[in-house]
Amino acid sequence: MSDFVKREKFIPYNLPDISQQEIDEVVDTLKSGWLAKGPRTVEFEKEFAGYVGAKYAVAVNSCTAALHVALLSQDIGPGDEVITTPMTFASTASTILHTGATPVFADIDYSTGCIDPNEIEKKITPKTKAIVPVHYSGQVCDLDRIYQIADAHGLFVSEDAAHALWSRYKGRLIGNKLRGTASYSFYATKNLCTGEGGMLATDSEEIASRARVLTSHGMSKNAWNRYAKGGTWKYDIVEPGFKYNMFDIQAALGLKQLSRLEDMQSRRLKIAARYQEEFGKMDAVETPFVPDYTTHSWHLYVIRIVPELLTIDRDQFIVELNERNVGTSVHFIPVHLMTAYRTRFGYKEGDFPNTEKHFDRIISLPLYPTMTAEETEYVIAAVRDIIEKNHK
Ligand SMILES: Cc1ncc(COP(=O)(O)O)c(C=O)c1O
Repeated sequence: MSDFVKREKFIPYNLPDISQQEIDEVVDTLKSGWLAKGPRTVEFEKEFAGYVGAKYAVAVNSCTAALHVALLSQDIGPGDEVITTPMTFASTASTILHTGATPVFADIDYSTGCIDPNEIEKKITPKTKAIVPVHYSGQVCDLDRIYQIADAHGLFVSEDAAHALWSRYKGRLIGNKLRGTASYSFYATKNLCTGEGGMLATDSEEIASRARVLTSHGMSKNAWNRYAKGGTWKYDIVEPGFKYNMFDIQAALGLKQLSRLEDMQSRRLKIAARYQEEFGKMDAVETPFVPDYTTHSWHLYVIRIVPELLTIDRDQFIVELNERNVGTSVHFIPVHLMTAYRTRFGYKEGDFPNTEKHFDRIISLPLYPTMTAEETEYVIAAVRDIIEKNHK
């Protein structure tokens, strides 16, 4: 029997890792007199593009903004269809709707949680203009297959890389040698965090310059610089745009987080390896399957419980973890089952069987760089204890 002892302090599912370096850089920015988009944002764009190996990076105030602008850069709009996964955060789909196009869902590959290329093929119609694959949890989608399909049908690919900074496909960083775009999130829980924020990466000068205009109200080039010496007060609005730009306080955080990314990642990798090792021994847990082509960023560590072997379901499993002071989350409630999508498109349970089966079983466990070895072992022990007490 388990000798599990409940700890006093709650372990959250996620915590940002902010060092003195980030704090000092933010304070320097506050003292610099330049708080809005300015030199630090421009430097962060340059550093980020260099890091992922993209020709251009456009800093924005969220991944949602990047996803929206990526589609707008292709003039996607009313009458068009864009294929994506229902196993994602709402904004992957809502940004398609915001362009006026229709999101068309394709089921996931149950083994990885990422969109299944075979399902994409089934959903292509003459109206299809783009594919938005989501690198779920830091896994990567089967990009060779996806780009083959895109090429065969003349489709644009906007990669949702919210979870995939540091992830690699066949050894190549997501963002490197991009044929479409990659959109990253720097939300508070992400592997690199600026509180809120995002980046659009591309190798296309055309997309990058359109994105710069669209994310700054539609203002003509370099308008952010108009208050500096030598800047000009004159600007034009070349198309109605959005207030989507990043600003220098975020970029200050981003620059320091980027310089610490490898260190933060090495800690994530150690925790994930320990989880893989111990959960791999538990019959009532399915550990994340990582295909050979994937280098996982371990943004999330998502287990699937095996309800057939347990007397409790996933929801009760989460309650039990919470009672043992372990925080969790669920990534994600399938988008097609959200009220807005059920009512508008008539989606219902049963429409995407792999997505729904996955959803019924998933739990995101604590994983963040400042998590200690003791906390990691405690989470493992808590899961083991719940299984022992609730095994059929
Ligand atoms: C898969 C995915 N795409 C997009 C987003 C949107 O990111 P943001 O909050 O930076 O807009 C998220 C947010 O968590 C996400 O998980």
